Amino acid sequence: AKITFITTDEAQITVEGDSGSLMELAVQNSVQGIDGDCGGVCSCATCHVYVEPEHVAKTGEASEIEKDMLELDDNANEYSRLCCQIEISDQLDGVILRVAP
Ligand code: FES
Repeated sequence: AKITFITTDEAQITVEGDSGSLMELAVQNSVQGIDGDCGGVCSCATCHVYVEPEHVAKTGEASEIEKDMLELDDNANEYSRLCCQIEISDQLDGVILRVAP
């Protein structure tokens, strides 16, 4: 699937992956602002992204654990996800994610 990340300085980076999490894909491709400090276990929130509203149906909803984590982040909104919790699949093709500050 092709995924586009938009960084906080408005750089657009389109990358392709077919397995693993979106956090891993972002880190492998050095997407600025996605650090993945906890290694993808939903406990650091350094992989916070906003899903473009029209793509929310593709990425699905945050899990309860993920929502609890996001609640601690002042920048979180209804489109927030921790992208280590999103598995890459064909369904995600074309999704656009904005990196949270
Ligand atoms: Fe730590 Fe996603 S990488 S919460």
